[in-house]
Amino acid sequence: MAFIEVVGGRHLSGELTIQGSKNAVLPILAASILHKGITRIKNCPKIIDVYHMIKLLESIGCIVTWEQEGLTIDATDVNYNSVDKKYVSSMRSSIILLGALIGRNKCVTISYPGGCAIGERPIDLHLKAIKELNVEVIRNEDLIFCSTVHLIGGNIEFAKQSVGATENIILAAVKAEGVTIVNNAACEPEITELCSFLNQMGARITGAGSKTIKIEGVKELKDVDYTLVSDRIVMGTYLAAVAGTGGSVTLRGNCCEENASVIEVLRKLGCRVGVGNDYINICSNGKLQASSIIETESYPGFPTDMQSQIMSVLSIANGSSLVVENIFESRFKTVSELVKMGAEIYVNGKVAQIHGVNALYGTDVKALDLRGGAGLVIAGLMANGTSRVSGIEYIERGYQDICLDLRTLGADIRKVEE
Ligand code: EPZ
Repeated sequence: MAFIEVVGGRHLSGELTIQGSKNAVLPILAASILHKGITRIKNCPKIIDVYHMIKLLESIGCIVTWEQEGLTIDATDVNYNSVDKKYVSSMRSSIILLGALIGRNKCVTISYPGGCAIGERPIDLHLKAIKELNVEVIRNEDLIFCSTVHLIGGNIEFAKQSVGATENIILAAVKAEGVTIVNNAACEPEITELCSFLNQMGARITGAGSKTIKIEGVKELKDVDYTLVSDRIVMGTYLAAVAGTGGSVTLRGNCCEENASVIEVLRKLGCRVGVGNDYINICSNGKLQASSIIETESYPGFPTDMQSQIMSVLSIANGSSLVVENIFESRFKTVSELVKMGAEIYVNGKVAQIHGVNALYGTDVKALDLRGGAGLVIAGLMANGTSRVSGIEYIERGYQDICLDLRTLGADIRKVEE
């Protein structure tokens, strides 16, 4: 079993370019099947979730190749409409193929994605929205079957904001007859990125990034070469790492303004942060002042995907903090691992109370989800002594090479294959 070994106590310094965005590329890969042609994606991250999505695309007839520049998808012959159960259960974001296959072939058979460590992850909003496009949805305990003869634009009002459900309805509506209006749409940058990609393919989408999105159905799409945006959560993760360890680092990527809420928190903790068009510079003395309360919210609020990482940093800040997790119902699982390292954290429902301690101490801990694992790596960087983080298959779902990235910034960290 492999693990990450990190020797704590080092300040971070230097410069790093951030990888392409996981949460932007997954819906874009699904979107590529809307066009019977070629899609090229530059800056595509080499991460487990992308490899999973590639297998899914190949299982329905796509030809996918890695080239020097990035990933090429030939979706000329998408001749299957059922999405293999083993992939859907192992990567819940494969549910994004629901909208894409309805958009391509007007039918899809897919299994339930199921929950994960951070929550039950239902898809009720996805299915309710799809029905508004004249699609029949039939379900049994294992499978969901969606089909229509005429895909017709409709009006969707989401009861709550959902990134995946917004992406799914956009993908289904791009080639529907007529206009689709989505109200209470998610506003995350990944929605904006997906719509930018689709408009380059020839779609006609306006309002992306706002709560009201309009999709005018088109008949044809075209080949596209697309350069993917940098990963805002990976950038936020490394900003948090510098905040906690101390040091001075420049991170390069075109997702700086999308990190505004994270930067605001880091400045309140006592970090100096400079922001350019395509870089963020952060300086920290590692002696942080606790932040009173941090609540996770939909964009542009503080992202739930940064909650575990900031929790690690707050665990050694001077004073007490509260973290409120408003998006997922069980995203505090990593707290028990941080407590093994000497953190003083109490969880009550969706509120975690953190009392900063002088130092964490290195020990063996286990990643239980993607961002929790990243939080444990940050804790290991800050701790006295050596930590070993197992469960790194979670971390490698979203981080191309977290050890190489952090070693580039001076960390004493490596992946060990046992
Ligand atoms: C996306 O997940 C991201 N994943 C998540 O990032 C991110 O945490 C989440 O959005 C919120 O920003 C990808 O983009 C691949 P949601 P998604 O639908 O789309 C509830 C990471 O670490 N809900 O916006 O699944 C749901 O249970 C991952 O990179 C319903 O109730 O999130 C949750 O409480 C983790 N019914 C809330 O909405 C539904 O039909 C937000 O979920 C759908 C969702």
